[in-house]
Amino acid sequence: MKFKKNILCIGAGYVGGPTMAMIAYKCPQYRVTVVDINPIRIAEWNSDDLPIYEPGLDEIVKATRGKNLFFSTDIEGGIRDNDIIFVSVNTPTKTFGAGAGMAADLQYWEKTARQILQYSESSKIVIEKSTLPVKTALAMEKILNYTKNSVSFDVLSNPEFLAEGSAVKDLENPDRILIGCRDTKSGLAARETLVEIYANWVPREKIITSNIWSSELSKIVSNAFLAQRISSINAISALCEKTDADITEVSKAVGMDSRIGSKFLSASVGFGGSCFKKDILNLVYLCQHYSLHKVADYWESVVRINQYQQERFILNMLTTMFNTLAGKRICLFGFAFKANTGDTRESPAIYITKRLLEEKAEIIITDPKALKNAKADLTGMEGKVSFVEDPYKAAEGCHAIAILTEWDVYRNLDFQKIFNTMTKPASIFDGRNIIDHKRCFDIGFNVYPTGKPALTHS
Ligand code: NAD
Ligand code: UGA
Repeated sequence: MKFKKNILCIGAGYVGGPTMAMIAYKCPQYRVTVVDINPIRIAEWNSDDLPIYEPGLDEIVKATRGKNLFFSTDIEGGIRDNDIIFVSVNTPTKTFGAGAGMAADLQYWEKTARQILQYSESSKIVIEKSTLPVKTALAMEKILNYTKNSVSFDVLSNPEFLAEGSAVKDLENPDRILIGCRDTKSGLAARETLVEIYANWVPREKIITSNIWSSELSKIVSNAFLAQRISSINAISALCEKTDADITEVSKAVGMDSRIGSKFLSASVGFGGSCFKKDILNLVYLCQHYSLHKVADYWESVVRINQYQQERFILNMLTTMFNTLAGKRICLFGFAFKANTGDTRESPAIYITKRLLEEKAEIIITDPKALKNAKADLTGMEGKVSFVEDPYKAAEGCHAIAILTEWDVYRNLDFQKIFNTMTKPASIFDGRNIIDHKRCFDIGFNVYPTGKPALTHS
């Protein structure tokens, strides 16, 4: 069958996989190939056990794979045979040299640019899907301009705004699609080609365009604003705990102001995920680079409050459990950085486990989807850690439960049954405010919500 467009995506991760599956699903007339340097990941994408858990993803992959969606390790062939290339490789925080701990590590990105240059035999549209520091497209263009023949490249910025756990829904019905391009004849034509792809299912008024630098920057700023809301509400949760105010009531009252809005105001044990911290630190680094030190400090405080919130959680456990956790069994309900994903990157649970082990506590971890990643994250960490799928079994004999992920399954557990098997006094630290605190208190637990008065039996 002859396809209308041949699309390649380099990078088969949390963004590349679902995004391309959605394009293939919505556009049967296009052939979509996803390539990756990691053969295990590609094998998993080609199996019944996809490398990431995302509600609704299995269905759209099953409907398209082998028809117009293909996963492969042949990067060279992919670049040669496709005219539209999305680049969705990872852009983690740099861990070495100048900018270590702050700047984006662009080595995977640059390697990809050089591969595109090396293997291209015809002109291409190259689309930045990864989240990148503003002006990265310039570097991409500079590398691609070393073309020896008549091959030319147009670089577009098309950042991805999906959230994990709701990726399929977000991709199917995005708030907006943002496309940044150069204001040249070929830049504008390339942009139109990309608009045409999304217009297969996204209403035109939601497809917005901008200059390429605004597009790159908007992605990082969106994440910074979202994270800032969480740090704002978490900062106030600390004040609530001192004043008997209730953070849920405060966030409801504040969020009903239509200028503020109600979303992203849930106090928690802190935000996790692979992107918020990385992207804010990247923003901080950019500001420092341009000598905007006050602006850099402002944004860095969002990350500092997030760290403070996690440390506060630990200190609360320590002080309320007689200032010693040594030898106590603590059960973590949830290890994923949020519900409906198995992803544990930058999950507060990693830091909390590390700190609890330093206090010589024994940790029992339960999570419906993230135990495999949790085991990998904790490899080499010293101390007693075990992994138990069933939350009832996990809590048996424990002194405390710490709720770290807002999985629905934890909302409706039989807490009486759990209480009966625990060591007394039994405590619950609800880092997500998802359970019925009063009911658990009535059962006999000491209950420590986030940003609300504790309910304790003296
Ligand atoms: P990921 O680590 O899950 O996937 C990246 C993939 O790229 C990996 O499988 C890796 O093997 C592959 N890769 C790296 N170098 C390669 C190369 N030279 N050739 C081929 N493959 C290569 O990362 P992710 O979570 O999908 O994120 C990708 C980008 O998207 C990042 O910039 C991130 O900030 C951004 N983003 C992520 C999310 C999210 O929810 N995870 C949402 C929006 C944007
Ligand atoms: C976030 C953004 O929401 C996406 O738009 C963006 O594309 C993505 O980052 C990215 O660039 O990677 P994601 O990290 O997958 O998506 O998930 P979120 O729903 O944003 O949650 C992030 C963290 O904040 C989680 O740990 C979550 O539990 C926490 N959170 C969220 C709160 O603590 N309180 C809230 O009110 C909302």
